[in-house]
Amino acid sequence: MASNIGIDLGTTSVKIFMEGKGIVLTEPSAVAYNSDNQIVGIGKRAFDMLEKNPSEIRVVKPMVNGVVSDFTATGHLLRSFIARVCKNAIFKPNVVVCVPSTVTGLERRTILELATASGAARACLIEEPLAAGLGAGLGNDKPKGVMVVDIGGGTADIAVITMGCVSISRSVKSAGNALDEAIIRQLRRERDIIIGEKTAEMIKKRIGSAMLRDVELGMTIKGKNYITNMPGTFEVSSTETYLAMRPVLEQIIEGVRSVLEETTPDLAADILDSGIYLTGGTALLRSIDKMFSAKLNIKTKVAADPVNCVAMGTGEALGDIEILRHNGYVFKSRAELGGFEDSRGE
Ligand SMILES: Nc1ncnc2c1ncn2[C@@H]1O[C@H](COP(=O)(O)OP(=O)(O)OP(=O)(O)O)[C@@H](O)[C@H]1O
Ligand SMILES: [Mg+2]
Repeated sequence: MASNIGIDLGTTSVKIFMEGKGIVLTEPSAVAYNSDNQIVGIGKRAFDMLEKNPSEIRVVKPMVNGVVSDFTATGHLLRSFIARVCKNAIFKPNVVVCVPSTVTGLERRTILELATASGAARACLIEEPLAAGLGAGLGNDKPKGVMVVDIGGGTADIAVITMGCVSISRSVKSAGNALDEAIIRQLRRERDIIIGEKTAEMIKKRIGSAMLRDVELGMTIKGKNYITNMPGTFEVSSTETYLAMRPVLEQIIEGVRSVLEETTPDLAADILDSGIYLTGGTALLRSIDKMFSAKLNIKTKVAADPVNCVAMGTGEALGDIEILRHNGYVFKSRAELGGFEDSRGE
C-alpha cells in the first residue's frame, strides 16, 4: 500500500513527511544537468556539484524566494524524491504540497499538475504558514488567534491563524539567504574580503546573532582579498556579523508590524495573549526570539524542531482531511485537473 505523503518544497531544501513514518527525506532543492541537458544529480549530489562548479555542469535551484522559478527542474525533483520515498509501494500516493500563501492561481495549478505528473495519484495544496502552524502544534482546536512567522531560506511567511485557518498573511523576501548575502556584502565593502555563500552561512550559524552578543566572538575564515584577488585567512567578529544582518532582520520585523496593523482589535488581543511562534531554519538564529519580543513587545517562542514544522504540518493535514476541506483544499487527480492524458473522453 502507498502511504500518503506531504512535501515541503522549500527554497533551500525539500522535506517529505510520510504517513506512519514521519520525516523520511530532507534534501537540498537542487538539480544538476550536463551539457546535453541530462540529469546528473538531484538533491545533495547536485548541491555538492554547485560548490565544485565544474564548467560542463549546470546546477539549477528550482525554487527562488519561495516560488517555483524553474518548473521543469521542479518536476524532475518531485519525480525523483516521490519515487525514492515510495519505492516499494504498489499504488501511487496522495500528496499534499506546501505553497507560500502568496502564490498565484496559475502557480497553484502548475504545482498540482507537476505533482500529479510526477508520481502522485492525487494532489492537494496547503498554505505554508498554515502547515507551519499545524506542525508547531497550533491546530484546529485552538480557538484563539496566533501569529506564526516561518523564516526559511528565501522568504519569511507571516500569518495569523485562527481556528485552523489563515486569516491574514504576508510573505517578505528577506530570510536566511538574505542574511548570508548581507554578510558577503559587508565583508566586501568594509574589509575587502570576498567569501562564498557557504562560508557566509557558516559564519551566520556559528557566530551570528539577532541581538548584539555580550561577549564578542571571533572566527577564522578562508576567502580572497578583493584588491589583490589572492586567497587568505581572515578573522571575522560576531559584532560585524550582527551589524551586517541587522537591516535584513529589521525588514522581517517590518513585515510582522504591517500584518499586526491589519489585524482586527480582537485578533490583536488574541496574539498578545498567545504570542508569536517562529518556525523555519532561520528560527535557529541565536536570540531571534528575544529580538522579536524586544522589538514588538509580544512574547515570542521558537517552535520545537522549527526546520521540520512545515513538513510535520502537512502530516497533520494528511491525518485530518477536515483541515484541508475547511480551508477549501481538495485532492485532485490529473484527470480532475484537466490533464490531457486522462481527460480525452470528457
Ligand atoms: N542554526 C542556524 N542558525 C541560523 N540559520 C540557520 C540555522 N540552521 C539553518 N539555518 C538557515 O535556515 C535556512 C533554511 O531554512 P528552511 O529549511 O526552513 O528553508 P526552506 O523551507 O528551504 O526555505 P523557504 O521556506 O524560504 O522556501 C537557511 O538559510 C539556513 O542557513
Ligand atoms: Mg520553508
